Amino acid sequence: MWPTDKALGVRVSATDYIPHGLPIEDVCDFVAAVRDLGCDFVDVSGGGVAAAQQIALTPGYQVDYATAIKKTVGLPTFAVGLITNPTQANEIITSGRADGIALARAFLRNPRWVWDAAEELGAEVFCPPRCAPAPGPVAGLGVCEPPSLTSRFDRHSALRPTDKRFLRKFMRRSGGRASRLRI
Ligand SMILES: Cc1cc2nc3c(=O)[nH]c(=O)nc-3n(C[C@H](O)[C@H](O)[C@H](O)COP(=O)(O)O)c2cc1C
Repeated sequence: MWPTDKALGVRVSATDYIPHGLPIEDVCDFVAAVRDLGCDFVDVSGGGVAAAQQIALTPGYQVDYATAIKKTVGLPTFAVGLITNPTQANEIITSGRADGIALARAFLRNPRWVWDAAEELGAEVFCPPRCAPAPGPVAGLGVCEPPSLTSRFDRHSALRPTDKRFLRKFMRRSGGRASRLRI
């Protein structure tokens, strides 16, 4: 039994990219049915499975399907498909075309996508303390850590009160460069 306090979503193929194939109206009916059964959100993709398909792979090529389902059914809707840059992602959400976005291939290219996006959009992200000592400039922090910090966090998996004191001291010593680190 799925816990009631956890969100449950469904992935749908809004199209099969085949002429006279799956109509969007049928997909909306399906999503409305799972909504009525208690589904919390829908993630809208396309079925890229037939050899004869000719899919125009343009940026955000499936977002319009998500928008259509969101408008028709009213369930929180995620869009996928060649969403690759932070401004594009932000526009999809702020313009109301979808409630959320999901990425796959962009993360394969750059596992630090979220950090870089936060930096580009001027957003603040929580930095897990164990990641703070990562070598090199850290998005949102922009500092290189002293080696002692690395060894200290190698010994601790959770942020304890002593760690908090140490981090605050580190932030003071960084002269504000690490001021975005929330502890
Ligand atoms: C060649 C190809 C075929 C895909 N086929 C399906 C599919 O049949 N059903 C589906 O839900 N998503 C399908 N997807 C979408 C992926 O599951 C995933 O949502 C998508 O790649 C995310 O978009 P992104 O990788 O452009 O960020 C396919 C993606 C690719 C690249």
